[in-house]
Amino acid sequence: MSSNIRWVSEKVSPEDLLAQAREAAKRAYVPYSKYHVGAALLFENDEIILSCNVENASYGVTICAERSGIVIMVSKGMRNPLAIAVVGSHEDRDDYFQIECPPCGACRQVLMEFNTNMLVVMASKNGTEIFKLKELLPHSFTLEHE
Ligand code: THU
Repeated sequence: MSSNIRWVSEKVSPEDLLAQAREAAKRAYVPYSKYHVGAALLFENDEIILSCNVENASYGVTICAERSGIVIMVSKGMRNPLAIAVVGSHEDRDDYFQIECPPCGACRQVLMEFNTNMLVVMASKNGTEIFKLKELLPHSFTLEHE
């Protein structure tokens, strides 16, 4: 973790959150890409929402794991996710879920809507990596611009 990042929970570590995201990835519906993505959103009271990517025969309507997590969050009446862990891997890889799965641009924008200070946790070859969402989507369009 870079020194200027303050982790958001005393009970749930970044590695715990990644482990949850790996569990979520097992549920991915990915008959087309075979690329499983799992996400775990973490909230104030250490509540966690798990989500995965859901593909479709009409490829363009596939929903990413991060965005499906946000849909679940809003449907549950929840807001303000403090952090999200994201993992992804193709079914055929040996280093399953140990490599980075950076959220796509569309997901970064959707995450930004609900907490510009969110932390984004990813697995990487060098261990856990934590980024500020703001750094992953600099100078972004937000509610404040309307
Ligand atoms: N995918 C995600 O779920 N999240 C991302 O941030 C990147 C891509 C999914 C979409 C599709 O089901 C598969 O990964 C391959 O693109």
